[in-house]
Amino acid sequence: MRKPLVMGNWKLNGTKESVTALVNALVEPANNAANVEVAVCAPAIFIGLVEQLANGSALQYGSEDCDVHNSGAFTGENSPVMIKEFGCKYAIVGHSERRAYHNETNEVVAAKFQAAQNADLVPVLCIGESLEQFEAGQTADVCKTQLKAVIDLCGIESFEKAVIAYEPIWAIGTGKTATPEIAQNVHSQIRAYLASFNADVAAKVQILYGGSCNAKTAPELFKQPDIDGGLVGGASLKPADFSAIIEAAK
Ligand code: 13P
Repeated sequence: MRKPLVMGNWKLNGTKESVTALVNALVEPANNAANVEVAVCAPAIFIGLVEQLANGSALQYGSEDCDVHNSGAFTGENSPVMIKEFGCKYAIVGHSERRAYHNETNEVVAAKFQAAQNADLVPVLCIGESLEQFEAGQTADVCKTQLKAVIDLCGIESFEKAVIAYEPIWAIGTGKTATPEIAQNVHSQIRAYLASFNADVAAKVQILYGGSCNAKTAPELFKQPDIDGGLVGGASLKPADFSAIIEAAK
């Protein structure tokens, strides 16, 4: 049985004040349940603050990216070992915004996935197609290619300690959520592809949906058999909305 995971991705948002308010709300008992895991991925500069505020609670947290190196002359980067030192469980890798604005290729993303695992972080591998690819019927192929780069470098067993987030780019920040049918169809194809390498790993890996996942759309999405929770952008910044999404996953 896969446990649902609801993860916020704050992207480039927040102040010390808003982060404090948000984390204080998330550590409240109402947002805790044995049958759902809640996590937030924060801008690196706020991770130390999240660590202090989440201390001793069930709330898990992570980074929005990580470098492939653990140290060295790489100005501006955050290493997986540093991220781990601040108590993070997760590191998002391969978010479409990183792929688009920082030219991260499938190979770079796979290297980040590997570096995160080497530092004992759980990588959250983001995959998904553009609107153009969606309209051309290429969704499954795009997702498979993105997964294959990681399988080639790290092996299928690496997904025993990883999370996948299917995030159609056309649904991110647009208010155009994939319908539960579309999302379930892609999730099941992702799982079937992984199963072609190792059925056991495929059955266990959590596959989150991301892209305008909100209090309204989450309940139907989370009812789908291959959707194991959500990676939530905009709605994760508002405590009431994020709590409603957590509620839908319980
Ligand atoms: P939105 O929920 O704002 O569409 O963002 C989704 C996302 O990119 C999460 O990683």
